[in-house]
Amino acid sequence: PAGKFLVTGGAGYVGSVCAARLLEEGHDVTVVDDLSTGHRDAVPPGARFVHGDAAEVARSLLAEGFDGVLHFAAKSLVAESVAEPASYWHGNVTTSLRLLDAMCWHGTPRLVFSSTAATYGNPDRTPIPESAPTEPTNTYGFTKLAIDHAITTYAQAHGLAAVSLRYFNVAGAHRYWGERHSVETHLIPIVLQVAAGERDRVQIYGDDYPTEDGTAVRDYIHVADLADAHLRALHHVAAGEHRIYNLGNGAGFSVREVIETCREVTGQHIPSVTAARRQGDPAVLVAAGERARTELGWKPERPNLGDIVNDAWAFARDGHTAYARSRTD
Ligand code: UFG
Repeated sequence: PAGKFLVTGGAGYVGSVCAARLLEEGHDVTVVDDLSTGHRDAVPPGARFVHGDAAEVARSLLAEGFDGVLHFAAKSLVAESVAEPASYWHGNVTTSLRLLDAMCWHGTPRLVFSSTAATYGNPDRTPIPESAPTEPTNTYGFTKLAIDHAITTYAQAHGLAAVSLRYFNVAGAHRYWGERHSVETHLIPIVLQVAAGERDRVQIYGDDYPTEDGTAVRDYIHVADLADAHLRALHHVAAGEHRIYNLGNGAGFSVREVIETCREVTGQHIPSVTAARRQGDPAVLVAAGERARTELGWKPERPNLGDIVNDAWAFARDGHTAYARSRTD
C-alpha cells in the first residue's frame, strides 16, 4: 500500500534517487533539505519540497502524520570531518537526535537511516559482515556509528521500527538523478570528469597496497539498487527493532580496474598518475551482503561495473541538462 514518507536530504545524490523511486512506487513524498550540498532541481517532480533544517522541519511537519522517515541529510566528507569535528558531531549527531525526538513525539513509526561502511574502519577480514567490529578511523564514521547506537536505544525504548543501511561505494545514476557534488572526492565521478575534459588527469592514491595490482579495492553498488533496498527495508521492519544491513555487491574492483572500465565505457584515453596514499584509506572494503539478501529479499540487479559506469556517464554527459530542459519546456 502507498505510504506517506519524509525524505531528509532528498536534494542530494542518494536521497533524490530514493525519493524518485518512492514516487515511482506510488508513495507520497515530502523532501526536506537545507540545500547546503544538495540541489533544488534534483528534487524529483511530484515531491513536495520544504527548504530547511531536517530536524527543525520534522518537529512541526511530522504532526501531519507520516508513515516513516528516510534520513539521508548529513555531512559526508571524510577529510572535512577530521578537520572540523564540531560541524560533523552537531550536523550529523545532534540533528539526528532531534529528528528521533520529533519522530517519537509525533509517533512516526518507521525510520530508514543512511549509515556507512566507514563505521567498520579498517577491517580485520574481508568481506565485512555486519557482526564485524566497529572501529571508525575518522570523525565521519564515528558520527554515523553514534547515530546507529542512538537508533538502537530509541527503537527499544519507544517502539520505533528502524533500519540502518551501511552503504559501501555508491555509484551510477537513475534516470535524471545522479552525483553532482560541488566538492567531488569520489573516484568514478572524478574519472568521468577527466573523460569529459573537465580535469587533466586522475590521481591514483597509492599503488603499493597489498592487492593484486597494488591499488585499493572497493565494492561499488548501483544507486538504483541501493534505493530498492530502502524500499524493502521500509516494509520489513517491525516495531521495537533496529536492524542493520550492509549494502554492496559483494565484489571488489581496484582503482585501476575502475579507470580501465571508464576508458572502455567512454572511449576516452583518461590519463592517470600515481600519487601518495590518501590518509586513512583501507586497502580493501568489500561487503558481506547475505543478511540483506536473506532478510530483505534484496539483491543487486545491476552488479556489473560497466553498467554502473555507463549510467554515471550518461548522467554526467547530459542527464541533468536533459532534465533541466524537460522542466522548462
Ligand atoms: N581514489 C583515487 N583517486 C581519486 C579518488 C579516489 O585513487 O581521485 C581512490 C581512493 O583512494 C579509494 C577509492 O578510489 O581507494 C574509492 O574512493 P572514494 O573516495 O570514491 O570512496 P571511499 O572508498 O573513500 O569512500 C566511500 C564513501 C565514504 C565512506 C567510505 C567508507 O564515499 O563516504 O566509502 O569507508 F566513508
